[in-house]
Amino acid sequence: MTAVQPATATAPGKIILFGEHAVVHGQPAIAVPLAAVQVTASVEPGPPGHGTIVYAPDAGKTLTLREDAGTSGDPLYDAVGYPIEVTRRALGISLPDMTITLRSTIPIASGLGSGAALATAISRAFAEAVGHPLSNDALNPLVYEVEKRHHGTPSGIDNTVIVYEQPVFFVRGAPIETFAIARPFTLLVADSGQPSPTHITVGDVRALYEANPARVGLVFATIGSLVNTARQAIESGTIEILGTLMDKNHALLRHLTVSSDALDDMCIAAKRAGAWGAKLSGGGRGGNIIALVAPERSAAVSEALRAAGAVSVIETTVQ
Ligand code: PMV
Repeated sequence: MTAVQPATATAPGKIILFGEHAVVHGQPAIAVPLAAVQVTASVEPGPPGHGTIVYAPDAGKTLTLREDAGTSGDPLYDAVGYPIEVTRRALGISLPDMTITLRSTIPIASGLGSGAALATAISRAFAEAVGHPLSNDALNPLVYEVEKRHHGTPSGIDNTVIVYEQPVFFVRGAPIETFAIARPFTLLVADSGQPSPTHITVGDVRALYEANPARVGLVFATIGSLVNTARQAIESGTIEILGTLMDKNHALLRHLTVSSDALDDMCIAAKRAGAWGAKLSGGGRGGNIIALVAPERSAAVSEALRAAGAVSVIETTVQ
């Protein structure tokens, strides 16, 4: 039986600044970690015969894992069981005697990377507890494997930014590129409170593309060139330009049918209250928008976002 040591790992949420959806089709995207929310996984050894038990106090659930996690139909079981199965297989061990306690402050299905963060924290803590700590390069493909099970055809951006905990300029299949942020900037992340599973919007955008590859392909390419301009602006510290680029990216996401009235209303409210720009972030049709603000406008924009229906607003500095 595998010896188990106590171990704890955390993983942050993430926000996509530019390029969601087009990134699935080969265009670049920019994402940053969101440290204000995170998942923590803590492993404690259990007595012989205890099995692998997952305790999720926030969900009020205790689960006993099977050797082959498979798909159970219980979302929590699938979300925690599969990362453990993938990690255990990669390490060539069977299920050890342990209790894994999970805590998360990342809202589910809202575009903040809750699934990838959960898988990252679990795999990291599990591997460390059994004496085989994983490097980021080793962990990233495991979390991508989990993302594929849950999201169909993910680009890999979520797992990459969350595993490496650094801003990334991401192109599907290309080596990971991080980049420098010349001047910190402030974002508000406003949650519509409407969960929206990413695989549905990704599937709808694919269908749209297949029905009209020329027109939709042009939208993807326009988003891609905007992402390149945004990277230059971030690297040179010309932050004010980013607001205009966010507005343009949001308009293009509307063309891709992944916005919603609630998301549009929040973007409009943020701009009226003085934000430099605003856009949906992530899969869309629900989840979050992000608004770029001068720090002194943050409180006013935050209030306007709540008045427009945001159930929570997180302020974060990208640096
Ligand atoms: O997981 P979300 O909802 O933040 O969306 C991920 C971004 C998409 O581009 C829509 C999908 C992907 O796999 O890149």
